[in-house]
Amino acid sequence: MATSRPIAVSKSNIDEIIDEDSRLTKLIYSYLTSAVGWLIFGTFIGLFLGLKFVYPDLGNYPWLSFGRLRPIHTNVVFWGWSSLSMMALALYVVPRTSQRRLFNIQLSRQALYIINVSILLGVLSLLFGVNNGGQEYREFIWPVMWLFALGISANLLNFYNTVALRKTEEIYLSNWYIIAAFIWTFVVVVIAYLPFYQHSLGETVIQGYYMHMGVGMWFTPMVLGLTYYFLPKLLNKPIYSYSLGVLGFWTQMVFYSLIGAHHFVFSPVPWWLQTVAIVFSIGMFVTLFAGTGNFLLTMKGSFRTIKKSYSLPFILVGVIFYFLASGQGSLEALRSLNEIWHFTNYTVAHSHLTMYGFVAFLIWGGIYALLPRLTGKEPSHLLVGVHFWFALIGLLVYGFALMIGGTLQGKSWIEQQPFINSVELMSSFWLWRAIGGTFMFIAHIVFAVNIVKMKPVLSKEFETEKKIASEPI
Ligand code: HEM
Ligand code: HEM
Repeated sequence: MATSRPIAVSKSNIDEIIDEDSRLTKLIYSYLTSAVGWLIFGTFIGLFLGLKFVYPDLGNYPWLSFGRLRPIHTNVVFWGWSSLSMMALALYVVPRTSQRRLFNIQLSRQALYIINVSILLGVLSLLFGVNNGGQEYREFIWPVMWLFALGISANLLNFYNTVALRKTEEIYLSNWYIIAAFIWTFVVVVIAYLPFYQHSLGETVIQGYYMHMGVGMWFTPMVLGLTYYFLPKLLNKPIYSYSLGVLGFWTQMVFYSLIGAHHFVFSPVPWWLQTVAIVFSIGMFVTLFAGTGNFLLTMKGSFRTIKKSYSLPFILVGVIFYFLASGQGSLEALRSLNEIWHFTNYTVAHSHLTMYGFVAFLIWGGIYALLPRLTGKEPSHLLVGVHFWFALIGLLVYGFALMIGGTLQGKSWIEQQPFINSVELMSSFWLWRAIGGTFMFIAHIVFAVNIVKMKPVLSKEFETEKKIASEPI
């Protein structure tokens, strides 16, 4: 007689509850709920934009136009979702690896308010057509971005002091990455928003610098730093090589800061500057091999643990996409390939394979590793599986549709066919992008349900603790 197979592989329950200060748990949860709210809102807008490519007459009002909604989508998923969720995890990892409490809980709580207000103001201003000109990812006007920078610097101060007053002799690898990410981001935002040197080509060079430093010096080191904590912790073994981690760190710092001009290959930006950017884009393979190799060698021999865990599969996918999608970027920088792919939807595929496949998956792995242990409440294993598979399948459909479509688009332009031909050939790929995007959006709704399920129950002492929250610990 045939036996019925279970719908999903059974996963292990969490093995330990972390006895953490309930104020910190509450703070981390507040960061996460804000981040999840922005994820749902930001990707709803993304999905709406994706549908506009299929039904161009959808939402025929100025405030629902592509030009206003696109920067809302990108800025919300950058600053709202990715940044706040990474900071939520860092609020745990930095004190834990420094073996002391967070320097000042109240400061990070205020930073959360400031960041949320800045994103809200940014979204409203973009909706009403008030923006910083056509500069990608810096469409928020300067007062809004200064507010965001203020929030970032408050958390930088908090993390810096926590690490400075650590009880360990060494600064753990995670904190190198996390503190560096904060310092770079502050510097990059200031450079990008100071007006003095931003005229004509100078503005373009700064745009390339800002755009890539944003993704490469904020999201990348932050999630790598967090993974250097969560991966060994979940596998219960040390990281394969500390030295490879240090090599990855320094090559990231040096090479990445030289590659911004690869966004403007074949542009009037000086040829030598483009060449420097291309050379170091290829040099980034050193960083990728060091980072991915270190993570995969740490995972070697632990396949059963990964299979049984509901957070480690997210981390495995994130690590694989780190290598594949960043490597894809190195190839995109080559003149021979950039000629085909630049301006096409191939780059949009790359953006999502990196920001979603690499960054979002590593964040999800960290959240599912931490939150149940902090709150003692587990999400439904089945729903975590639904989240995982819908997000992964959605991303693969989205990515492959635009990689194939983008290549055909570029070839049709090179052959100097009428522009409308490339629009017609893209129509089926845009439909597939909308289908993939729907899967991703459903995954986010399920993720939100899981987060609600893990809501912490506040201890009785919490109210008393709130009164002393402003005191540094
Ligand atoms: C955490 C999730 C997401 C992140 C981090 C993200 C990030 C981004 C980024 C960085 C861009 C700019 C692309 C470029 O210029 O190369 C972008 C554009 C876009 N995204 Fe997303 N995205 C996410 C989810 C989604 C979802 C679920 C959809 C649904 C279809 C979507 C649809 C779009 C569309 C239509 C564009 C505009 C593309 C264009 O200008 O042609 N995104 N997104
Ligand atoms: C080895 C590492 C990487 C290299 C060499 C690289 C290279 C590139 C290149 C050459 C482009 C421009 C394509 C064009 O416009 O023709 C690009 C675009 C982009 N990359 Fe990467 N990439 C790397 C990693 C990443 C990572 C880790 C992320 C996200 C965390 C990322 C996010 C993006 C985004 C969002 C864009 C679109 C920018 C725009 O809107 O024009 N990349 N990348």
